[in-house]
Amino acid sequence: PRFYALVPAAGSGSRSGAAIPKQYVSVAGRAMMGHTLDALLAVPELDAVLVVLSPQDDCFESAVPQFQGARAWVARCGGASRAESVAQGLRELQARGAQPHDWVLVHDAARCLLQPAWVQQLMAQCRDDEVGGLLATPVADTLKQAQGQRAVATVDRANKWAAQTPQMFRWGLLMAALAPVLQGEAAHITDEASAVEALGHTPRLVEAPFENFKLTYPADFALAERLLRSRA
Ligand code: CTP
Ligand code: MG
Repeated sequence: PRFYALVPAAGSGSRSGAAIPKQYVSVAGRAMMGHTLDALLAVPELDAVLVVLSPQDDCFESAVPQFQGARAWVARCGGASRAESVAQGLRELQARGAQPHDWVLVHDAARCLLQPAWVQQLMAQCRDDEVGGLLATPVADTLKQAQGQRAVATVDRANKWAAQTPQMFRWGLLMAALAPVLQGEAAHITDEASAVEALGHTPRLVEAPFENFKLTYPADFALAERLLRSRA
């Protein structure tokens, strides 16, 4: 089978507080998404990296000029939700020759601290798996069940993981899981694994560091900047 990365990058970043879509905010000297795409292109086992932009996007070519070459694919087919952007990206992969048994690694553009070695660990642990799997990190904090601002119970954190990306499934299973999205249903889907779980499957959890966090709020950008600069 082939291995494709699919990068949803069609969001607006409303929680980031930035004036431009957060994937284009400068972090450690370049557009945040540039770091993400470089990490994926640095994985030689990936046959291609497809980035899914909003149809209205007019920043990409100038903001991420290094995304070039036969393995660097761009599609302007993003939708109203992340799940819709991923589902449209799956269609684009099919149009470019993807087969049902090929693997698709969905990775948030907003997880720009991704390291190629983590992608390779995911691939090594999931390529012979019946279902596929995802990077995730065991929950370290004590978890509270809340009613409004009051804690009413403490949730056992044993066996709780925080889901990250990439999330890796075969094209056919992922398309089956996300098909309702293309019919305008299942808008609640937040990640691929949840849609695959809803079909009765149990994705494999592959441990990754917290450092693979998603840049969401303003403070996340300053933290990412420090971490990226300390790597250089
Ligand atoms: N995404 C997308 N299409 C959408 C919404 C989100 O491709 N309609 C992408 C984002 O660009 C991001 C990833 O999905 O790379 C994770 O989503 P999130 O962190 O929620 O990004 P935004 O939706 O842009 O941010 P916010 O929810 O704060 O508006
Ligand atoms: Mg969002």
